[in-house]
Amino acid sequence: MIKELRVSLFDVVMCLSDAIDLISQVLVDHHKRVSYIAFNIATEIGLCAEEQNNLVFAGLLHDSGALSLKERLDLLRFEAENSYRHAEVGYLLFKNFEPLSKIAPLIRYHHIYWNKGQGSTFKGNKVPIGSHILHLADRVAVAIKRKEEILGQVKGICERIEKNSGKMFMPELVDAFKNLATKEYFWLEAISPSISSILAHKSKSIIIELDVKELLDLAKLFCQIIDFRSRFTATHSSGVAATAETMSRLIGFSERECQMMKIAGYLHDLGKLAVSPEILEKPGKLSKEEFYIIKSHAFHTHRILGTIKDLDTINV
Ligand SMILES: [Fe+2]
Ligand SMILES: [Fe+2]
Repeated sequence: MIKELRVSLFDVVMCLSDAIDLISQVLVDHHKRVSYIAFNIATEIGLCAEEQNNLVFAGLLHDSGALSLKERLDLLRFEAENSYRHAEVGYLLFKNFEPLSKIAPLIRYHHIYWNKGQGSTFKGNKVPIGSHILHLADRVAVAIKRKEEILGQVKGICERIEKNSGKMFMPELVDAFKNLATKEYFWLEAISPSISSILAHKSKSIIIELDVKELLDLAKLFCQIIDFRSRFTATHSSGVAATAETMSRLIGFSERECQMMKIAGYLHDLGKLAVSPEILEKPGKLSKEEFYIIKSHAFHTHRILGTIKDLDTINV
């Protein structure tokens, strides 16, 4: 008999964030860095704890709608073009999942330029300040050169951000960022290999617990991100989930166990997010290297899901 499972939304979101950044070495920890920077800007301008927390989650998921490696790499350009599609897809993914519905609008507008105040609305809708924070945090994150020592880059990054104050970014947020930028720990934490635990510590004031029904809904949402990346796998995980649930019922599993099997079906290919659709859809024979990349997906699924803790077995 499978026991009742209680997990935190933060752990599960961190999982997806990890998975979607595994697609390339140059993207590792991108979502976590944006989350960390956005949280700090929100704190600096005095947003309330709930809004800070929403930015932690929005940062961790903001580029979930960018499904291909090319789309993700294009977004690394400081003045990225055609960046609205992935933001809209991200919005559509999260808007109907109640525990994350508040972050959906933040994600939707995270590439809107401030444009001397015109960016306070977009197509008649109000753009939340959280979206402008996310935009600034995202651009700061992409301005960091991964192969260079960080503190030597601070001056150049600040000049680049300041040059775009009023155009790309809200001036008040640029001022808040400049204050943060004087603190060396801010930069060292932003690029730290321990950024997961730093973020977990920052957001621990609000623990959002998921029950099995919510976990099932979130797993289904992840499944869409996993499956939609390729037309060849468009219904694969949902099909595995439905089959696993039905078979479990037929052999006499309890209702709870059937639900857990369905969740396992939805998530069994999570590690495939580390494989680019260019490889998944390659019409010809895979090269040796491509084959090894495909083969590693089961390991990634196991490793990533292994980081989710059962709240009953830890002190929170
Ligand atoms: Fe983005
Ligand atoms: Fe991003």
